[in-house]
Amino acid sequence: MEPQFWHDIWTERKIGFHRSDIHPMLQNHWHSLGCEGLDVLVPLSGKTLDMRWLASEGHQVTGIELDQRAVDEFFEEWQCQPAVDARVDGLADHHSGNIHLLVGDFFGFQPEARFEAFYDRAALIAMPEAMRPDYLRKLASLVVEGGVGMLITFEYPDGEMDGPPFPVRRPELDAQNWFRVEQLERQEVIGYYTHLQEAGVTSLVETAYRLERTAEPAA
Ligand SMILES: C[S@@+](CC[C@H](N)C(=O)[O-])C[C@H]1O[C@@H](n2cnc3c(N)ncnc32)[C@H](O)[C@@H]1O
Repeated sequence: MEPQFWHDIWTERKIGFHRSDIHPMLQNHWHSLGCEGLDVLVPLSGKTLDMRWLASEGHQVTGIELDQRAVDEFFEEWQCQPAVDARVDGLADHHSGNIHLLVGDFFGFQPEARFEAFYDRAALIAMPEAMRPDYLRKLASLVVEGGVGMLITFEYPDGEMDGPPFPVRRPELDAQNWFRVEQLERQEVIGYYTHLQEAGVTSLVETAYRLERTAEPAA
């Protein structure tokens, strides 16, 4: 999707993806991943409360978000006034406590060091199929070999709605070489996502996976 698509989403407040709770699959499985104390990358972060939970669990959290309003609302709702620093990659670092939210394009993010942990909820599935390999390649470039993360996907019957969110199924995940994939939990959740039910989706399966960054392919 073009950046303007997402700016319009925030302008028109079509943010049904934003949850008012901590994602239960994050709470259920995060501690089984083996990333205690590691810095966590949160691509396409929106203003998710999951970042506050990760920070409260002792992680340094770095979210990347295109839209300034999402970042402003995150800190307002947290009742924190962030400091703001310009970065050399052009993203604007808004930070308070152990949370850094960088405003700008994920594809332009150039950190000083790679991350050992990440959390992708509604980031991969926000991308149309043609963009997903580029997204996974970029994510892989930001994660050290052996780094681990959680990915949460949606699946719904083809043709029931135009994404985002887009359905992402296990064979697509198995076809990429950057991450080893292991399923953690799978649930029918259409009852929770009423905005998708209203859009015509009859079945919505949410799946949490553990992803582990594989070794770099030999040159
Ligand atoms: C579906 S929302 C998910 C937000 C969050 N992960 C959550 O669970 O609530 C996708 C978010 O990614 C942001 N976004 C889309 N493309 C982006 C990009 N290229 N770089 C950074 N953020 C992006 C959008 O503005 C939107 O807030």
